[in-house]
Amino acid sequence: MGPHDFSETKFPPIESLDDLISELYKVFESDHVNVEYVKCLMESYVSNIADWRKFAKFDQYRYTRNLVDEGNGKFNLMILCWGEGHGSAVHDHADAHCFMKMLSGTLSEVRFSWPTDNTKQECLNEISRSNLKLDEVCYINDSLGLHRVENPSHVEPAVSLHLYSPPFSSCRMFDQRTGHETKCTVTFWSKYGERTPYGLDSSMVVPENN
Ligand SMILES: [Fe+2]
Repeated sequence: MGPHDFSETKFPPIESLDDLISELYKVFESDHVNVEYVKCLMESYVSNIADWRKFAKFDQYRYTRNLVDEGNGKFNLMILCWGEGHGSAVHDHADAHCFMKMLSGTLSEVRFSWPTDNTKQECLNEISRSNLKLDEVCYINDSLGLHRVENPSHVEPAVSLHLYSPPFSSCRMFDQRTGHETKCTVTFWSKYGERTPYGLDSSMVVPENN
């Protein structure tokens, strides 16, 4: 392998979630985000439940968002826990990068194009559909469309690791059948492994006008 072969990854071996977080801090010091590099970094971490069990808190009725790290203000890293059949609404990503890695189980991701005419009620146009399997990473931002994510299994829960940069506290969700959008606030079911005191009945994306 010659000195100009860049196929080898440049980061040290990622042997734990803590290793991954340390590398992410380095990567996000810069304001330029190399998407392929971050994907590669996150893929190189082999999911180990011993690393993330304390963050994985499930709710009986819907998926939960559990904050792992605030990334020095540069990114939010969180673990989402999806019970059998749980899914998100169609949503955007507030001009942020979104990386999603499977830690356990499988999630299906369905992408849609943005509504083109908000004066008309129109069903969102599906662009693609894929399954994300253990340790795989996918990436989306607003220029790639909208998506919804769900655990298609009726027997197995799913756990995923999400990185958003820059962090955001509100986004928009869309009615798949009409394209109608609603602003929503992002809240956490737990932070740093501890149940958050607020939102005992609103663990996740909650429409602001509810
Ligand atoms: Fe998303």
